[in-house]
Amino acid sequence: MSRIAYVNGRYVPHTDATVSVEDRGFQFADGIYEVISIYNGHYVDEIPHLDRWDRSLAALSLPPAMPRVAMRQAMARMIRRNRVRDGILYMQLTRGTARRDAPFPTRSTRPSFVMTARNQNLPAVAQVEAGGSLLSVPEIRWKRCDVKSVALLPNVLAKQKAREHGASEALFVRDEDGIVTEGGSTNAFMVSAEGTLVTHPTGNAILGGITRDRVLQLARASGLTVEERPFTLEEAKSAREVFITSTTMAVMPIVQIDNAVIANGQSGSNSLNLHRLYHEFCTAEGI
Ligand code: PDD
Repeated sequence: MSRIAYVNGRYVPHTDATVSVEDRGFQFADGIYEVISIYNGHYVDEIPHLDRWDRSLAALSLPPAMPRVAMRQAMARMIRRNRVRDGILYMQLTRGTARRDAPFPTRSTRPSFVMTARNQNLPAVAQVEAGGSLLSVPEIRWKRCDVKSVALLPNVLAKQKAREHGASEALFVRDEDGIVTEGGSTNAFMVSAEGTLVTHPTGNAILGGITRDRVLQLARASGLTVEERPFTLEEAKSAREVFITSTTMAVMPIVQIDNAVIANGQSGSNSLNLHRLYHEFCTAEGI
């Protein structure tokens, strides 16, 4: 079955799915995106993702492509036509096509709205039990990391560096105070010596992850004490547990940061428990 992409109202085979060379997303990274997980044929946290989409649009003064009802119909059609059962829906909107000039086009330009969908499993249980590793990298991003913008070059470079060092993910750390902001495409958590779950507060320094919010809610409901406060790389390295979250990684325990092994080098019990609770939540959403 050939994959179908959505491009400005048309459903086309991937090979025919193109946008203009003068698309402002291509030339200026002037656009936003979302990645929504599909689990057992149903979305995970669809509405929070669409709410964040709206916030990103507003932050960049981008016009919506269409009303939400129509958008959800197009999204559903993409999942159906690509026969996605367990996978992801990718959505991107840019300010559209105009002669290259940095300020917004003066003539009203139609935004470019594209979607792709594909089957892709969440990390296997064996991978989660083995845990992943992080490579710390300097935080060099701008001061609006809360916007899910397609301007991802620092993330690309950080994640490439992590890969070259054999690490599963990059971890952004601020030079001036050693604070961990988040991962290259994930949010970062630690469990302190006292057993408190700690993660960077939302704001301009991180992307407010939808998985992050869901995991915090599940953690609180399970009786864990939660603190949304900045923590340093040194704290993380000597933490009882560390894990990262995202739509595509769910909850991934971390057993090493740079050369430091976390605790006894095994996935932590709270991390594994939150991984299980998140899966139960996804399953319930997918009924
Ligand atoms: N990335 N932080 C950054 C910088 C991210 O790019 C992402 C998501 C997250 C986690 O957000 P969420 O839980 O809503 O997926 C945090 C997506 C998955 C990506 O770029 O592929």
